[in-house]
Amino acid sequence: MAKNAVITGWGFYAPSRVVTNFDMEKMVDTTDEWITTRTGIKERRFASEGETTSSMSLRAARAALERARMRPQDVQLVIVGTCSPDYIFPATACMVQNELGATRAGAFDIEAACTSFVTALGIARGMISSGTVQNALVIGAETLSRFLNFKDRTTCVLFGDGAGAVVVEASNASVGIESVVLHSDGSKGELLMVRAGGAKVPATQQTLEQGQHFITMEGGAVMKLAVKSMAAPGKPPDHRGRREATALPDGARVREPPAVREHLCRNDPDRHRRGRVAGAPPPWRQGTARGVRRRLHLGRVGARVVRAARRRASGLAARPRA
Ligand SMILES: CC(C)(COP(=O)(O)OP(=O)(O)OC[C@H]1O[C@@H](n2cnc3c(N)ncnc32)[C@H](O)[C@@H]1OP(=O)(O)O)[C@@H](O)C(=O)NCCC(=O)NCCS
Repeated sequence: MAKNAVITGWGFYAPSRVVTNFDMEKMVDTTDEWITTRTGIKERRFASEGETTSSMSLRAARAALERARMRPQDVQLVIVGTCSPDYIFPATACMVQNELGATRAGAFDIEAACTSFVTALGIARGMISSGTVQNALVIGAETLSRFLNFKDRTTCVLFGDGAGAVVVEASNASVGIESVVLHSDGSKGELLMVRAGGAKVPATQQTLEQGQHFITMEGGAVMKLAVKSMAAPGKPPDHRGRREATALPDGARVREPPAVREHLCRNDPDRHRRGRVAGAPPPWRQGTARGVRRRLHLGRVGARVVRAARRRASGLAARPRA
């Protein structure tokens, strides 16, 4: 029988280095007023020298496992959604798996730009519902500061670094991840890209000199596309009237155009949770919006059900809640 996929743990890590809009004013020709008006962003976090996508993922993952009360060796699947992996390969997920000691887990990365985390969550949900795995550690993490051109004010003020993680488990409970709706339009790839460093345009002295290893974006066109696709009639198809705590890829929250917000979500007005960090985990952790709180409540109910079932299966006595 298909099972529900329930979020039983969540964790978040943001680097300690805070870069405010006033700091950005010293780097490029911009103002706090311009950034705030258009994006709501007041500050972002940048990784320090020794921090990487895998090290931040690890911090978030440990917190999520602790909250789910799951041991690393019981994790069956590790997925990292990222477009700024430590290496092209090995996968960042494999590095996290090794550092965690999740020795029985399969591990792979998902790269779908801003939708990487949501996509990874959808895959985990599918693999749990089909019975392929009983649990998954799903991480969204980015070190985008390493791909920013600090001479390009149209992009460098928008992105930041950090990681969020959730533990997802199979459950017979009636709560869980209801649906994951994905949509892509590959014809618009050039609107937001890192041109060089892949197989098509390998890194050379020339690509470096031309800054082709940095993020480039046509912001206005990306915004129009995001609004159009996310507010499209009929999406999401199977939410059965529930709208609260919908997780959107990060790009969708730029300016939160009323059409998208009214249709899909009502949350997170400020600060670094609106910086681009591979999707939804940060707002879940902060949980300030009413809908998010409700989802966390449902998540906790589901988590208790899952933990009780886990204890019954392993013959352990009930443990008091922390
Ligand atoms: C990026 C974004 C905030 C820009 O807002 P915008 O209103 O479209 O701004 P524009 O690009 O039209 O630029 C307006 C002006 O501001 C200027 N500008 C751009 N960046 C600036 C900055 N950081 N500071 C000051 N001025 C800036 C532009 O040069 C332009 O000046 P001009 O009219 O003299 O040419 C907006 O397009 C957006 O949110 N796009 C979606 C981004 C997104 O979701 N990306 C996905 C990543 S996850």
